Amino acid sequence: MKLPTLKNLDVSGKNVLLRCDLDVNFDENTLEDKRISAAVRTIGNLNNAKKIIILGHRGRPKGVYQKDLSLFPLTPFLSKALGSEIFFVQFAPFLEEFEQGLVSALENNNKYLLVENLRFWTGEEVNDPVFVDLFRSRGEVFVNEAFAASHRQSASVVGLAEALKPRAYVGLNFQEEVIHLDRVRDNPKRPVVSLLSGVKKDKLKYTEGLEKISDKLMIAGRLPEYLEDAKFGPKVFVSHLTPDKEDITIHSIEAIEAELKKAGTVILAGVPGKFEDEGHMLGTKRVFEAAANAKAYKLVGGGDTSSALGMLGLLPKFDWVSTGGGAMLEYLVSGTLPGIKALLD
Ligand code: 3PG
Repeated sequence: MKLPTLKNLDVSGKNVLLRCDLDVNFDENTLEDKRISAAVRTIGNLNNAKKIIILGHRGRPKGVYQKDLSLFPLTPFLSKALGSEIFFVQFAPFLEEFEQGLVSALENNNKYLLVENLRFWTGEEVNDPVFVDLFRSRGEVFVNEAFAASHRQSASVVGLAEALKPRAYVGLNFQEEVIHLDRVRDNPKRPVVSLLSGVKKDKLKYTEGLEKISDKLMIAGRLPEYLEDAKFGPKVFVSHLTPDKEDITIHSIEAIEAELKKAGTVILAGVPGKFEDEGHMLGTKRVFEAAANAKAYKLVGGGDTSSALGMLGLLPKFDWVSTGGGAMLEYLVSGTLPGIKALLD
């Protein structure tokens, strides 16, 4: 897929609105988090800009301020990585008041601005034109470095891209995501073996699409619990859960291992068991080791999946670690995302 990229883009003297994936845990590993390093790398490529207004979200606060989901604690990490102070634009419940804060932040000497979690305002998730306008009128260029949020019809993903194109682009990591995922979509080494796991029920909407692009689809984690009487063809294997429902059975582990051994391409999305509990990590450990050791092109996505692989020291064995969970699945099954359509149409 051909996307508008940062190549040859001159942003000197311009204000850039940069949407990033900032939904991360803030701890000593923050700066190593792929989402944060992607943001920092793209900011480095926009360094001629007059101002860079960094936008992002955390969690699902649904239009309500929640202190534990504030982006404020990210400020020192980003300042350190950029070697420059960052001005934090605070939450204000009324848009007029928030806009005044944004305007005075832009008058400040700091080159970098970080805006509070956009999902504290209802306008973000419903792509409200009034909310979009608030930012649109302050930026001359839009860059989307939030692949993981680009399956959402949000103001900062879809609204700003539509409002600012043709001066709307994807960031460096976003571009790489698409190159790697296209490789799996267009010309995969067969058999393609996908493992869809985790606890989020909404992932099940990808089973049909994944079944189409895979030679074998295995469903694990809590997902089998939500399937009820769903009927699948011979391509699909549904795992069995242990009696306490926190891991998959030995028989399921062995069946998944056997498929992964034969794979030409592996797609991993979600964790098979409650890996953070010592007593329930067997399924995740064995299945992830089998995935990592498969002589295949290996793709993984999703925050929990990457953390579990990181804990097991297996991440370097993967060919591509996607910053997206739902966004990776959506792109794999449909070949586009709302955030991409908005840049192109
Ligand atoms: C993610 O963590 O993958 C993104 O923040 C997307 O989150 P969402 O599913 O709440 O839109």
